[in-house]
Amino acid sequence: EKAGYKHFMAKEIAEQPVVIADALKHYVAGDGTLRLPEALDFKGVDRLTMVACGTASYATHVAKYWFEQIAGLPVEIDIASEFRYREPPLSPQQWALFVSQSGETADTLAALRYAKEHVGKVVSVVNVATSSIARESDLALPILAGVEVGVASTKAFTCQLTVLAILALKAALDRGRLDAAGLAGHLAALNALPGLMNHALGLSADISAVSKNLAEAQDILFLGRGPMFPLAMEGALKLKEISYIHAEGYASGELKHGPIALIDSHVPVIVLAPRDGLFDKTVSNMQEVMARHGKVVLISDAAGVAEAGAGCWKTITLPEVAAQFAPILYSVPAQLLAYHTAIAKGTDVDQPRNLAKSVTVE
Ligand code: F6R
Repeated sequence: EKAGYKHFMAKEIAEQPVVIADALKHYVAGDGTLRLPEALDFKGVDRLTMVACGTASYATHVAKYWFEQIAGLPVEIDIASEFRYREPPLSPQQWALFVSQSGETADTLAALRYAKEHVGKVVSVVNVATSSIARESDLALPILAGVEVGVASTKAFTCQLTVLAILALKAALDRGRLDAAGLAGHLAALNALPGLMNHALGLSADISAVSKNLAEAQDILFLGRGPMFPLAMEGALKLKEISYIHAEGYASGELKHGPIALIDSHVPVIVLAPRDGLFDKTVSNMQEVMARHGKVVLISDAAGVAEAGAGCWKTITLPEVAAQFAPILYSVPAQLLAYHTAIAKGTDVDQPRNLAKSVTVE
């Protein structure tokens, strides 16, 4: 059942190129048109509220950048436990979208039931197609990740991102923000991901060497900008939940507003920074860390490592990727860092203490 892997988590990390290709095949027809239910028409929708918990919530944070930048659709994101009791004002002109691997998370389900009374349409992005959240939505879109056993979500996260990217493209088409050539360009970038992720999986041994050092840390920071900011939070969550090392993810630009006080020669700082339009900004934040003797692990592409790798404690070089979809590729090293650090610490990777795979009580 673990197909030769030591842990379900390792198997599920390795499966990502295949399941993402499956999801893309499901939602994109051979002629390059999107294959989505007819009722999923974003025309006339003036706002999208996305609600989820934990890792699924970080998927919505990434997708906010896509819906806003590609489709020009204003997005609100919230965690379900806050949304459900805050009971925010909602309108029939807006849609609500819920993301859940299990489809049974109590807070997310309660948030969905509240939204259903107020919004135009309730859409869910789920792994378990027979789940309560899927059944109670107007439209449920499967992520096709297959069964995820490891408590720390890996392939479900990247499949959620893939389906959310497709939805952002659909919203852009419906809102007249994208023509056929633009769509083809985005789809080519998405279709490149499985191959790029295979390359990233090949770096497992290098990442394991970095993790042996991380295992000695007490606190680790993750930094990112733009759509990589939520991935910084996801990387920190993955690390803390399975290795029990305290970790936080911050937007690079927030560093000087407080967290930089934590930096000394004992604190590793993982910088998730493809060489995109914001790279130079992130490099200057990185230099602030290095000036305080923080140990920078730069995860970037060859151009980024060539430009800014000097003075870093470690570098991990990924292939180039379309900037917008970089969080999907950079998930792989983030997951592998957490996995190998947990292995180095000897924790139970698949069944971390105090956690359950499906959180059916609030
Ligand atoms: C973290 C993790 C959790 C879940 C969260 C929501 O690795 O797995 O944070 O993402 O409990 O669960 P679902 O997606 O089932 O609603």
